Amino acid sequence: MSISSFLQGRAADLRYIEAAARTIGDVAEGMKIVVEKSTVPVKAAESINTILRANLRPGVNFQVLSNPEFLAEGSAIKDLLHPDRILIGGDQTPEGQKAIKELCWVYKHWISDSKIITMNTWSSELSKLAANAFLAQRISSINAISAICEATGACVSEVSHAIGTDTRIGSKFLEASVGFGGSCFQKDVLNLVYLCESLNLQEVANYWYQQVIEMNRYQRTRFVRRIAEKLFNTLTDKKITIFGFAFKKNTGDTRESPAIYVCKHLLEEGAHISIYDPKVNQQQIIEDLTHPDIMDKPEKVLELLSFHTNPYSASERAHAVVICTEWDEFLHLDYKKIYNSMLKPAFIFDGRKILNVDELLAIGFQVETVGRRTT
Ligand SMILES: NC(=O)c1ccc[n+]([C@@H]2O[C@H](COP(=O)([O-])OP(=O)(O)OC[C@H]3O[C@@H](n4cnc5c(N)ncnc54)[C@H](O)[C@@H]3O)[C@@H](O)[C@H]2O)c1
Repeated sequence: MSISSFLQGRAADLRYIEAAARTIGDVAEGMKIVVEKSTVPVKAAESINTILRANLRPGVNFQVLSNPEFLAEGSAIKDLLHPDRILIGGDQTPEGQKAIKELCWVYKHWISDSKIITMNTWSSELSKLAANAFLAQRISSINAISAICEATGACVSEVSHAIGTDTRIGSKFLEASVGFGGSCFQKDVLNLVYLCESLNLQEVANYWYQQVIEMNRYQRTRFVRRIAEKLFNTLTDKKITIFGFAFKKNTGDTRESPAIYVCKHLLEEGAHISIYDPKVNQQQIIEDLTHPDIMDKPEKVLELLSFHTNPYSASERAHAVVICTEWDEFLHLDYKKIYNSMLKPAFIFDGRKILNVDELLAIGFQVETVGRRTT
């Protein structure tokens, strides 16, 4: 996502929020609590409040609460039933506190009091952005360490295990990879950067942008550079097979998927790309790879792409297989069969660190994995 498409998306979000607030203002009767659930730009509650108050009709009143969503794709029901915490932000007035109590009552049907945190609206909106920014920051931090591992011979899995056992750091979100993706992390960090800039906090904006977003981009381009270097510094007319296009396993969502950027760089170098993903459909991949934000010459892309419904046909006569998504089924493929059908030397680039390197080396593959020097 470029800054300009982030700003366009943000403007669209604000338009939808305004339109929704005006519709609520037109049709609501009596006292209503408006709950802002999804990720919205900070201060959205204030805008909703302003619109509703400016259009108040006799006998109608509102309280606006912020109740950020923490469900992740692929584990939404589990996250809903067993959340780490529920945040509810509202006005620090008696009416605001009453509205907060009403929403707490809904959650108390299945969540204990100790997990329900109430606060002012601003804190709640900012906590959502900050939580995602901190998670993205951890991934960028371990990815930065993965570059040192590849250069020195240290193994990033050993390093992340070692530092993750320090309870002050903890083991979550410490898997190195080809980079983070999804609809939330980049957008929320950019929202935070935008907020810092509008508050004239340029150094804080730079911190989040350069350390988290730029490191994510660096990780993706570094991975593709490694592919090019290993394939004798030329990718033109080589066949590269991509295993996985979704931004993570157990979803067909491709928003901000690292696979898009890996394919973009490979296509720019003239590689032929064959793609297999268990869930993502061909049309979605074409839309992602021909989007004007991604490719300057989208018309050329279609000539270089092919799509497969199984990993074995996808990898026939390929120079390299590249793992972009950590689907479980990639753990159990017949890699001997894949090796036999590929051109030699046959390369595997594991962008998710999921495969057994020793087994692949024994078959004869040249193996490159994030955060480890193997060949
Ligand atoms: N997806 C939604 O529709 C949605 C909506 C509202 C709020 N949210 C919130 O936004 C956040 C992100 O949700 P998401 O659906 O993008 O899923 P997510 O947090 O599982 O994944 C985001 C990124 O982090 C990576 N990741 C996941 N676990 C990791 C680990 N242990 N180590 C390293 N990297 C890891 C994934 O590969 C992916 O690139 C969550 O906090 C969620 O509650 C999501």
